[in-house]
Amino acid sequence: MKQIIKYFDCFAGIGGFRCAAENIQSDVYDFEHVSYCEVDPQARTLYEAVGDKKPVQQINDVKEIKTNRNPGGTALADFDMLFAGFPCQSFSNVGYRKGFDDERGQLFFYILDMLDYYQPKYFVLENVQKLSTIKNGNLLDEMKTALQEIGSGYHLHVWCLHASDYGLPQNRYRIFFCGIRSDLCEKKDIKEPPVIKLTDAKYPTVWHLLERGEIDPKHYIPAKTRETVLYKNPKWQGNVNIDNAIARPLTASMSKWHRANQDNYYSETYINGTDPYSRPDVDLASEKIRRITPLEGFRIQGFPDNYAEIATACRLSYSAQYRLIGNALPVNLAYAVIKHLLNSYLCEEDENG
Ligand SMILES: C[S@@+](CC[C@H](N)C(=O)[O-])C[C@H]1O[C@@H](n2cnc3c(N)ncnc32)[C@H](O)[C@@H]1O
Repeated sequence: MKQIIKYFDCFAGIGGFRCAAENIQSDVYDFEHVSYCEVDPQARTLYEAVGDKKPVQQINDVKEIKTNRNPGGTALADFDMLFAGFPCQSFSNVGYRKGFDDERGQLFFYILDMLDYYQPKYFVLENVQKLSTIKNGNLLDEMKTALQEIGSGYHLHVWCLHASDYGLPQNRYRIFFCGIRSDLCEKKDIKEPPVIKLTDAKYPTVWHLLERGEIDPKHYIPAKTRETVLYKNPKWQGNVNIDNAIARPLTASMSKWHRANQDNYYSETYINGTDPYSRPDVDLASEKIRRITPLEGFRIQGFPDNYAEIATACRLSYSAQYRLIGNALPVNLAYAVIKHLLNSYLCEEDENG
């Protein structure tokens, strides 16, 4: 009989972890989604609208959850696995890099509280790569120690992975903390999940996923912003950088018309051309150039196409959709990590080949 792994999706966003777990096929285990926690109402709207089944339990704020530090809180339904892509603004390179000292960084302690109180068998946590450089790497060491020692202890595996090594045409690094409760088995020496060749992926480059045909004119760089977006000043800005075969890391503020070396723009020549790998000569003064659309953003992050339709049907504005996409977790990374962790520990075959 298959092992049923009940999971709690914390800081759920639009469900990168759920989407990944639902795609994993195994003869040994199956997932059951029991609860999720997400404070942002727009994220909750999309999360619920795209889900097949409503989870048993929904909690808005992680601070409401019952733990030793919060005995009066809401008790979580029984779960075996915790997923948590905890808020990363305090750690990312655009934040203040204060690490644990600001309010959002403190949310890590709520994860520790939950692991301490509920002691699930497994966890997978996700964050930005920059975490590893804060306080010269000391913050990462503190987090690793805390995760290994919490409750009755966990075997910990920490992997820093790049989205384009796992089938998505995006330059985005994420760090994963994977734990298995140490009383369940001996620690295994498992390496990172096996890399997937991008040429074998569904979308080997952004070109392969670009929408063609009629596109909402709102996605084209507006005349009044054009000069700023495409302004070339190598002294302090670097070159204008459009038509990337591998997208820049998607950000939550994609609707803001950042400069072309900070965000993802594509020219009509590239979109309608035949070579995904070479940049065409583009007349920056006159050619139509557009940002990636929300559908393309969902694709770059590994979500199915119906997310874009459903988001629009839920009346989420473009800027809300870009924000949710930019905050999300690349689904293919989560898929590779969860599968590799569980197969390495629960299946006979050696996942490292
Ligand atoms: C980095 S995002 C995680 C995104 C998610 N992995 C996905 O695939 O969409 C962090 C999420 O935590 C949510 N969040 C922030 N503070 C929270 C809190 N106190 N309680 C619950 N959720 C919170 C944010 O709204 C955001 O959606």
